[in-house]
Amino acid sequence: MEYESKNIVKKYQAQTFPYPSFLDIDYTKGSYIFDKKNKKYLDFVAGVSACSVGHANEKVIEAVKNQLDKYYHVMVYGEYIQEPQYKLAELLANHLPNKLSTSYFTNSGAEAIEGAIKLAKRITRKSEIISCWGSYHGSTHGALSVMGNEHYKANYRPLLPDCNKIIFNDINSINNITEKTAAVIMETVQGASGFIIASDNFLNILKNKCLETKTLIIFDEIQTGYGRLGSLFGFQQTNIIPDILCIAKGMGGGMPIGAFISSFENMNKLTHNPKLGHITTFGGHPVNCAASFATLNYIIDNNLMSQINAKEELFRKLLTHKKIIKINGKGLMLSIDLVNKKERDNLVENCMKDGLLLFYFLFNENSVRVTPPLTISNEEIKFGCEIILNNLEKL
Ligand SMILES: Cc1ncc(COP(=O)(O)O)c(C=O)c1O
Repeated sequence: MEYESKNIVKKYQAQTFPYPSFLDIDYTKGSYIFDKKNKKYLDFVAGVSACSVGHANEKVIEAVKNQLDKYYHVMVYGEYIQEPQYKLAELLANHLPNKLSTSYFTNSGAEAIEGAIKLAKRITRKSEIISCWGSYHGSTHGALSVMGNEHYKANYRPLLPDCNKIIFNDINSINNITEKTAAVIMETVQGASGFIIASDNFLNILKNKCLETKTLIIFDEIQTGYGRLGSLFGFQQTNIIPDILCIAKGMGGGMPIGAFISSFENMNKLTHNPKLGHITTFGGHPVNCAASFATLNYIIDNNLMSQINAKEELFRKLLTHKKIIKINGKGLMLSIDLVNKKERDNLVENCMKDGLLLFYFLFNENSVRVTPPLTISNEEIKFGCEIILNNLEKL
């Protein structure tokens, strides 16, 4: 049976990763995934940071079911009043500064980035977009154009013109930002490079340079979003309020949704000249907006953000071993740095055999991703870290 399903997947489902684990999912609950043989896996990946409030979260399921019973798709985005959309937009506005009052909902993170790049050009009437080496912003053409890794771009060129780079956390390279630059797009914690935190000094100098050159700041908080760092978004722990905020992944609690967010005035630019400056059929799908609304309320009602620091500390305390070079990242966005790719692969594979799911980074071959649901308990953290330590011992 397993052999059969694997072969059907291989034959009919396009695969872009050559060595998938082919974990055959049966059902999920909380911090656990169960496979078709009823083997239980503690999930330290959370759908690559997407399942923020745990698997099969009751509040998310209730919201989705209620919305499904009322209506699901009715019309392309923005034409009709759909309660789940405006309630989510209002809730977000209530938790964000005035400068970020107005949301455009999308289907994914990459589409949020596409919208943000277009909006930045529209606001500034400039075309240069600067991003950071080591950044990941998604896999569509615009997002790929601002990706900070040539290996993943080379075979898809030509990409967008006028996309240039600065070095993340290198204050000298900030000089590449000039009057010609429409926007700088960056993550507050670089995901694909192994959870590298933007330094305060870098951000402060960048902010001043952007003010001086009339350059917008776009923060990609697609992976940090909805509380993973202990605040709703990463920028709330910095001195910068971005001009445009991109969110997705964890905001849906496991359902597909994204958004680019800016001021009312900025967003209004998409309404005229031409009208319909950004169009999506399914963006802001009411079922997914309802899921996102439930996710955000669940995080707030259960004080999940106030527990993140303590959970991070517990991970850091437990994950001390001679094979670990260091733990990068912040909050529940942590990476275990090992000495090489072989050790990393062995650790991920052996932990999986022992019922713990870990994962990789796109641009960093020596590190292991730890991004559990925000709802992970201290007991589960201890249990998972024990599996990691046992397997580090065997490396
Ligand atoms: C920081 C960041 N930006 C953008 C994206 C793209 O989001 P999506 O996969 O929903 O298109 C991701 C996804 O991993 C991400 O981590």
